[in-house]
Amino acid sequence: MALNVIGAFARKGGSLSQIGVRNIASLASLPETHQMLYKTVRDFAEAELKPYAAKFDKEHLYPKEQIQKMGELGLMAVEVPEEFGGTGLDYLAYAIATEEISRGCASAGVIMSVNNSLYLGPILKFGNQKQKEQFITPFTSGSKIGCFALSEPGNGSDAGAASTTAVAKGDNYIINGTKAWITNGYESEATVVFATTDKSKKHKGISAFIVPKPSPGLSLGKKEDKMGIRASSTCSLIFEDSSVPKENLLGEPGMGFKIAMMTLDSGRIGIASQALGIAQAALDCAVEYASKREAFGAPITKLQAIQHKIANMSMQLEAARLLTWRAAYLKDCKKPFTKEAAMAKLAASEAATFVSHQAIQILGGMGYVSDMPAERHYRDARITEIYEGTSEIQRLVIAANIYKEYGL
Ligand code: CAA
Repeated sequence: MALNVIGAFARKGGSLSQIGVRNIASLASLPETHQMLYKTVRDFAEAELKPYAAKFDKEHLYPKEQIQKMGELGLMAVEVPEEFGGTGLDYLAYAIATEEISRGCASAGVIMSVNNSLYLGPILKFGNQKQKEQFITPFTSGSKIGCFALSEPGNGSDAGAASTTAVAKGDNYIINGTKAWITNGYESEATVVFATTDKSKKHKGISAFIVPKPSPGLSLGKKEDKMGIRASSTCSLIFEDSSVPKENLLGEPGMGFKIAMMTLDSGRIGIASQALGIAQAALDCAVEYASKREAFGAPITKLQAIQHKIANMSMQLEAARLLTWRAAYLKDCKKPFTKEAAMAKLAASEAATFVSHQAIQILGGMGYVSDMPAERHYRDARITEIYEGTSEIQRLVIAANIYKEYGL
């Protein structure tokens, strides 16, 4: 099956600036830039991430040096135009790069994804020139990273129920409340925060702010001891009469919920890509092990039970990749992609859970111990079904959009 589609590249000049038919059926059918990007990121991840991912995971180590190198490669601001210090590539390129980084280290994948999609994304789309210069450009090189603060201890899926408040006072807003489960919370040097400026308007009273870190009245909660993606930090951000200049309001007052939803649409493509990378790494590990492990007088790759598993794992992975690339492509074409991003994230995260589960089954006892990476892939996969909208929320978003298509 070939998906022939029309695409336009963000990068001006170079061999890929033309608008033309784009075939996203496989990597080999993509334009040269995307294939070169894939190879560059793949080589980087093999050399600089894969050998250290187990240590980062075990010791909860933020991969500072590697993130810096990823910044030098242009991976920390893939979609940001060159005028603001970014790489100026499209979202399909971003999806491919995020998958390959995550194949080497899922934690590096989410650090990259949050900086690109959740932090830089909304500032790029809704920020003014000054905000872009101040809060995008210094966050493109990997030396500074950002985060996104939407969830609270009392509400995650019900994002419109934010209880954090922002009250105008003179030239500032005073923010009070706690934001929870913030990826990159520890290392980030700025955050996009959502707080209600008018509670009576419910979700229409939520506004978005760019808050530098450190800021007066902003402190960090404990670093969470997580099951997976342990080299990325997750913590609460606690705002106690924290003052932020009015000029740091992102968009208009009351636009915050829409900004959050639109940001998450894009972010879900990033997490789908992270999940693909985890699934691909688990499949790589399973095939490699099965080709060397002998049972009943031959490598276990010869056993039909193993072949069926490998077939099912590959099929789920490739189906999820097509959904992910389709969502990225639609975003690049400036077409609606909310439903497609939700489908991509749902399919890819469930594929990651399935593939990494089956990889452990193929490795048997060796899959259950940390000498092999299979158990880490399984732990890393699990969060992809939870953050940036649980699988249940993705189904809700998909169904709501299907009903709309039926005119219901
Ligand atoms: N794009 C633009 N607008 C959107 C939208 C979208 N994708 N989705 C909804 N909206 C708009 C609607 O059009 C509506 O607008 P009006 O008020 O003008 O009519 C408004 O938003 C409210 O929409 P709903 O009635 O559908 O909103 P809801 O309260 O029922 O919630 C939801 C919808 C899909 C459940 C949403 O709350 C949601 O996505 N929840 C999950 C939140 C989430 O993903 N959190 C993850 C946090 S980030 C993270 O994980 C941390 C990390 O660091 C990785």
